[in-house]
Amino acid sequence: MRDAAPQTIHLKDYTPFGFLVDKVALSFRLDPQATRVLSRIAFRPNPEAADRRFFLHGEGLKLIEARIDGEKINPEISETGLEAAVPERPFIWEAEVEIAPAANTALEGLYLSNGMYCTQCEAEGFRKITFYPDRPDVMAPFDVRIEGDQPVLLSNGNPGASGAGFAEWSDPWPKPSYLFALVAGDLVAHPDRFVTRSGREVALNVWVRPEDADKCAFAMESLKKAMRWDEEKYGREYDLDVFNIVAVDDFNMGAMENKGLNIFNASAVLASPETATDANFERIEGIIAHEYFHNWTGNRITCRDWFQLCLKEGLTVFRDSQFTADQRSAAVKRIRDVTLLRARQFREDAGPLAHPVRPESFVEINNFYTATVYEKGAELVGMLRRLVGDEAYARALDLYFTRHDGQAVTIEDWLKAFEDVTGRDLTQFKRWYSDAGTPRLRVSEDWQDGRYTLSFEQFTPPTPGQDEKPPRVIPIAVGLLGPNGDEVRRTQILEMTEEKQSFTFEGLAARPVPSILRDFSAPVILERESGNAERAFLLAHDTDPFNRWQAGRDLARAALLAMLRTGAAPDPAYLDAIRMLARDEALDPAFRALALDLPGEEELAQALFDAGEIPDPQAIWEALERFRQTRAEAMADLARALYDAHQVTAPFAPNAAQSGARSLANAALAMITRLDGGALARRQYDSADNMTLQLGAFSCLLRTDRAGAATRAFYDQWRDERLVIDKWFTMQIVNARPEDAAGRARELAAHPDFTLKTPNRFRAVFGALSANQAGFHHASGKGYALLADWLIRLDPLNPQTAARMCSAFETWRRLDPSRQKLIKAQLERMLAVPGLSRDMTEMLTRIRAA
Ligand code: BES
Ligand code: ZN
Repeated sequence: MRDAAPQTIHLKDYTPFGFLVDKVALSFRLDPQATRVLSRIAFRPNPEAADRRFFLHGEGLKLIEARIDGEKINPEISETGLEAAVPERPFIWEAEVEIAPAANTALEGLYLSNGMYCTQCEAEGFRKITFYPDRPDVMAPFDVRIEGDQPVLLSNGNPGASGAGFAEWSDPWPKPSYLFALVAGDLVAHPDRFVTRSGREVALNVWVRPEDADKCAFAMESLKKAMRWDEEKYGREYDLDVFNIVAVDDFNMGAMENKGLNIFNASAVLASPETATDANFERIEGIIAHEYFHNWTGNRITCRDWFQLCLKEGLTVFRDSQFTADQRSAAVKRIRDVTLLRARQFREDAGPLAHPVRPESFVEINNFYTATVYEKGAELVGMLRRLVGDEAYARALDLYFTRHDGQAVTIEDWLKAFEDVTGRDLTQFKRWYSDAGTPRLRVSEDWQDGRYTLSFEQFTPPTPGQDEKPPRVIPIAVGLLGPNGDEVRRTQILEMTEEKQSFTFEGLAARPVPSILRDFSAPVILERESGNAERAFLLAHDTDPFNRWQAGRDLARAALLAMLRTGAAPDPAYLDAIRMLARDEALDPAFRALALDLPGEEELAQALFDAGEIPDPQAIWEALERFRQTRAEAMADLARALYDAHQVTAPFAPNAAQSGARSLANAALAMITRLDGGALARRQYDSADNMTLQLGAFSCLLRTDRAGAATRAFYDQWRDERLVIDKWFTMQIVNARPEDAAGRARELAAHPDFTLKTPNRFRAVFGALSANQAGFHHASGKGYALLADWLIRLDPLNPQTAARMCSAFETWRRLDPSRQKLIKAQLERMLAVPGLSRDMTEMLTRIRAA
């Protein structure tokens, strides 16, 4: 039965649970159709709570028997849980329930993936395992016993007794139920060990299916680096005797930080040079670190309620970004993060799904694991750090860790740690958490008698449910360059607190060129009148690598917008500047590859829309194509030279230096392919000994008349490697011409290897379709109809993954009336499906309301 009337949950309605839990003991008898779960829970009245209603969440559970203090009871059971009369003193709750993991396609709760039992409990999946107060502020130590005939039986914490057909685990650290995990299967370990700085010996394991044993080494190295880094940079040590990571094929998200037993989407952990790209390696390193870092930021200190999600996710994303910046290039990491922030979070913030970093209400919490909570949430941590300085940031974090260890806390608690350490009032800063929308920052300048003045004005457009946005604190990092390119003022943080504010620089010999918002010091949209000469100057001279990259991006963007508006030819100013940069041997190849990247279709569409124009996805695609073709012709010799100079001869290593060289070589190859019809790409494809080069060549070949042969060869080579076959699906769709994209996606969804059961595969096809902007938004509406068809099919099986993909439609209001009408019709069609999930219903309703 589906929920009749989905309820909206409000932050302002928070009340603590009426009972505390002293201990949880769970016992599992595993069976695909009829797993038995026995729970024995020690409750006692919570002196801080007014409401003593004893309600336990529970969904899809068959109750066999329930007891209080050994006495059988008959609780009242509803679709969402049960209620019982309980004594006004400590008592023992016992329940036995039956669940069917094999029937669980939603991948939430206990389910089977390729014969392996595993769990996913965040955010509200534990209630599908047993009756429990399934909320993050109820923390307890867990003991677990697993009975099953699988050779490997894992749960949280430290191992206890084990023998044929059973294993026991005990987690001494009180935790909320969303961090519970269980795994049982025929797995092999990639083992290692780690000694913490206080001398605790930790057994580390990456558990995988036997055929994946050769793809674990990189994840293990990443884990050890992350453990050491958290000790060195944050003073955080690991706190159990074992740390287990398990790779699972069917998983809704990337990975999950269950205490002592992280569960990973196979795509976020398995890697070998032959099957994984450099980008995959980098993602694995980052995500292993992210989940590990949650052990402190999320697990030891958790969230009071799900409105505080950014407390753990924003902070942990910030920490994993710092980690990656330290392992690789800080500039490259920052540029990648900001590119992603703009493409996903700015887009979200400008549309019908806009919400504050700390939302005030939700229907389905799974719909709020968003770019805003994660990426903007991380930016807020970065801004705080900029505002208080590195040293105060470190002290604030120390205070936060000691003050709140073992607690479930709020954004107020987090900010209080900063206030107490610095004596600063963060009331205004808090608006970043409560107000949605991306602030525009308009800049003007004045030069008089040796005084240089920068004037700023901030304005945040209305978002759903929020019209008025008072000014926010904005840390604006600024440096000044002299006419000869020397830096005449080093980076300083201008702290903007008013709606309009000016800052004056004295004692300058000549009018400077400003470098504003260095390192992207705040998540805002900078609006500034500037010309190509100045952009080229900054591209050549800025000492801030982010702004140097930004200057190139601005040049490309201005050129593309001019093409779109006036039919102009690609601007030679861009071509000259980018040739200089690409040739500059002093620059990191990874940085040069990023500088060759062009603003994406999303960024251009939003720029046009912000200027009051209606973006046409097809025209944007054509402009980008023409731009790329002209650039390839203008850079032909240089492209070949870059290609030759960045061939890696050393044995493959997934490090920053090699991956930078490969990404520049692949960027050059894409240009060359436009001129040689794929001859060089074919050679690279045939000789590649790693997936980065093979896939780089494959994507080039897909745009030539060698596409068919390459597609068959790739499939034949990799048919047994599911993660590589995901790439095969994706590549064909993202590289398709706009008119072919939907047709290709339709064909591939009929391929025998396509399945609705594995989110990775679904995303490989339909995530790729929505990523092909011009294809998805094809004027015929066939992209919209196809995606809607398949979301309707996926929803009854896996509502969480289906709902996340609804965001493909979120930009509909900025399109022309004809496309709007086509999308509206699909939104209505999906909403009319009987029994549509709460997840999809919430997403589609919000999108339609735009
Ligand atoms: N806690 C999340 C995973 C999660 C999200 C579980 C939503 C259930 C519902 C985990 O820590 C996480 O954030 N994972 C990210 C990757 C990370 C590197 C940002 C993910 O899965 O994409
Ligand atoms: Zn996380």
